Formats: sequence, C-alpha cells, structure tokens
Amino acid sequence: MNMIKVIRILLLASIIILFQNCNEDDISSNSNAELVTVGDNEYRPEFHFTPRNNWMNDPNGMVYYAGEYHLFYQYNPNESVWGPMHWGHAISKDLVNWEELPIALYPDNLGNIFSGSIVVDNNNTSGFKSGSESPLVAVFTHQNPENNKQTQSLAYSNDKGRTWTKYENNPVLVNNDKADFRDPKVSWHEGTQKWVMVLAAGDEIMFYTSSNLKNWVYKNSFGKNVGAHGGVWECPDLFKIKDANGQETWALLVSINPGGPNGGSGTQYFLGDFDGETFTSSQAETLWLDYGTDNYAGVTWSNEPNNRNLFMGWMSNWSYAQNVPTYSYRSAMTFPRTLHWQKNNGKSIIVSKLPTEMIYAIGGKVVENNNAGSRFELLNDETLGEGKFYLETTIDFSAINEAKIEWGNKSSSVVIKYNKIKGELILNRAESGYKFNNLNSNILKCPYVLPDSNQLKINMLVDKSSMEIFLNDGERVITALVFPLAPFKNLEITANEEIQFIEQIKINKLSK
Ligand code: FRU
Repeated sequence: MNMIKVIRILLLASIIILFQNCNEDDISSNSNAELVTVGDNEYRPEFHFTPRNNWMNDPNGMVYYAGEYHLFYQYNPNESVWGPMHWGHAISKDLVNWEELPIALYPDNLGNIFSGSIVVDNNNTSGFKSGSESPLVAVFTHQNPENNKQTQSLAYSNDKGRTWTKYENNPVLVNNDKADFRDPKVSWHEGTQKWVMVLAAGDEIMFYTSSNLKNWVYKNSFGKNVGAHGGVWECPDLFKIKDANGQETWALLVSINPGGPNGGSGTQYFLGDFDGETFTSSQAETLWLDYGTDNYAGVTWSNEPNNRNLFMGWMSNWSYAQNVPTYSYRSAMTFPRTLHWQKNNGKSIIVSKLPTEMIYAIGGKVVENNNAGSRFELLNDETLGEGKFYLETTIDFSAINEAKIEWGNKSSSVVIKYNKIKGELILNRAESGYKFNNLNSNILKCPYVLPDSNQLKINMLVDKSSMEIFLNDGERVITALVFPLAPFKNLEITANEEIQFIEQIKINKLSK
C-alpha cells in the first residue's frame, strides 16, 4: 500500500468517526428533512393563537363584544396548506387564553371567504338586528375560485358572533376593472356620521362610505407614488392614533407582498389626515410596522373597550408559510400589541408595545440582575430549553460599539447583534435549525439609530418557534420564526469590549 492510499484511508476513517460522534445538538447543518422528527408539538406556541388543525392565515373580523375578544381568521379546514378559504373563529377574555369555536363562514355559490372586518352596529343602521343584542356585521371579500373575481359581501350575527347569516343581496360592492379588490376594513367615522371602508385594489387603497353598510359610495384612492410598491397591497386598516399627550393623528396600515423590508411579506404604514373621505399624508419615507419577516396582514380590533389600537398580525410570510415544519396545523398569530404615535426629533412613527394583558402570560422569575455586567451567561437552563420565556434587558452603548445576544446550543443558535456605528440590528437565524430556503434572507436587518442616551432596551417574547423583539419600547419591532432542531438551553450577552455594559437583565418563565 503506498503512502497516498494510507493517508486516504486514515482521512476516511476520521470522517466516519466524526459523524458517529455527532450528538443531537449537532444536526443543525443537515437539511430540513430532519425536522419531520421534531414534530408539531415542539413548535406549537402556547401563548399565541394557533388553530387546532390545518391552515390559517390573516386575522379577520377582530371585534370586541360583550366581554369577548373575537378573532376570526382565514382558514382551510381540509389541509395544512392554503386552499378554499373559510373564516375560522376563536374568542378570548384576556388575550392570552384562546378558545376555538366552530367555523363562522363557509364558502358559498359566490365563492370563498377572503379577509375582511366586523363592526358592532349599535344603531342598527343595517337593519339586521333581530333580538336584544347589537348585530355584529361582517364585511368580507367573496373570491370566485373559477375566475378569481373579488366582490364585497355581508354577513351578520345577532347572538354574540355564535351564528352567522349571509345577507341575501350579496355582493354589496363590485368593481369590474380591478382584479385585486379585497380585504375591506370598516370603521365608524364620527365627524361625517358614516361608515368608512378601506379596500386594497392592486397597489393602492380605495375609500368608500356608507350610511347602512349595504350601499357603498366610492370617494377616493390613496397610494400612487407613495410608499413601497414591490408587490400587491393587501389588508389595509385606518384608525385614529394618539401620542403620549393625547394628541391625535390618522394611521393607514397597508400590508404588501412581496416587497417587505426583509423580503416577502411586510406591513408599511402612513401617518396623515383623514376627513371622512380622503386620506392625505406628507410622509416622505416608507415606514414599516415590523422589520421581521413574520408579521403580516395585521389590523386592529374594532370596538376595543379601552379605546386602544389593539393590533394582531399573522405570524408568517407568504414566501415560506406553507413549508414550515409543522404538519397538523400551520401558522400562529402574533401576540396582540398596542400601537401608539410617537414623535422623535420631529419624525412621526408608530411604536408597538405588548399590552398590559401580557401579565397573564408572565410566570416565575428565572434571573433578575440589576447590576451592571460585562457579560451575561445562562447555560444549560431548562426554561430556555423549553423555548418559552420573556427577557427584558437594558444595554448601555456609551463605551461599546456592538453587543450580541445569542440563544442556542453547542452547534446552532439565533444571533441578535446591534451595531451602534452602523445603526443596525441584525437577527441571524441562518444557523438556527430550519432553513427558510424560500426566502433568500435568513439574516433580518433592522435600521435603528440609538437615542442620545446610548441605551438600548430590549424586550423579547419567545414562544417555542417565534421571537418578538421590541427595541426601546417598541420604536422598532422584529418578529421572526425560528425552528430549532434541538433545545436551545444557552443564552449569552456579550459585547466587543470586556467592560460593564449590561445595566439590567430579567428573564421570566411564561405560564398561564
Ligand atoms: C393576505 C391575503 C388577502 C386575502 C387572503 C386570502 O394574506 O392574500 O389579501 O384576502 O390573504 O387568504
């Protein structure tokens, strides 16, 4: 045997030994096929709504009535991929515990039931009232599966949303010129005493008004030459929004797919004025509600009892939603958030915060440290490994340029890095387990310049396969799915210098 042959055999032998020594932590570099064995239950969030079975996308018809937050949603009861859309239904009293109810709206001879909204018709403007309860009126898109034609229709409930009757004269709004004409969001406009509907049409928003929810008059359109136009506009929402002093302005949310800030689906917004018919905005920049890839088609609750702009989105992305490694069900909603107007150095933005109901999800303390530290380490921790926790930390960037939070195990992790000089946060999930192959970006970037205080407060809600990260009380949000192959029991916070930079850190379990 010559020398080269010997070396080859030795090399081969060492490769075999290397592979045999791989433990469960080391399989992250393998393909997504491994994930079949991890299974649904490891990934199903416990503090976010998921359907018991099958496919879900957009939140629909979110309305509060008689002590219950209703969540309807795009639902395919037959499979865990998109298909003929129904409206699934769930209710909650506390925004943490959700109860799934029977399907509310089924496809009919006008088509499938696409996205839409619900209002409480307290004054019975629609004439749908039949008992003692106020009628809930659903305004939704019928999609004809044969030609994809989209029209707007009504359904109503006189028993607190438990049963629904479709209006006999559906559809109530037709447009023969527009192929994409959908997702009506209706609200009551005090000034004009009229219902207002915002509707997505191609890559603009159309505004209609009505006095009875049945007859709609076109008023105006918004969107030409403003904002992002990398895809079709969907699921708009229009509402008044307050700043910390109670001053009001108007916000228009517009989901866009593709063309989001990190590819695929995303939600932009416009701040401006609305007089009951026309929305105007002098905003020059494109603003995004969330820089993660996994918050889409979100809108706010109607009739919210505390007058909050309470928001929830679909926690996925059309680029890969149908392939993620859950099989009996697919998709969760984001945790609800309250939206607020904030002016930073003359610039208006929307900030997103976790609602006070978050306390119903907070469990025992894992760590609390109010002293400055030059590094934080929690290793081999079972709570982290269960994938359900809430982290709050404040990092002082006065003397450092870069800090990093890493949640993972020996061989794979999610890395969240903020660089003060670049003014950018990067969430890197490329080596976090499941590979989001369909979206060419596992590295999510979020531009953010620190305030003069040089402080970055991070609140992070982790629930099995999702991370929702809020920077400085929601000035930026990054929502990202992650599917680890083996438990992530380690969390480390480090900086580019070995000096005191962690001002405070607290980790709590999540429990109901
Ligand atoms: C947004 C969307 C809507 C449509 C629905 C169909 O994700 O495409 O525009 O109504 O999903 O399921």
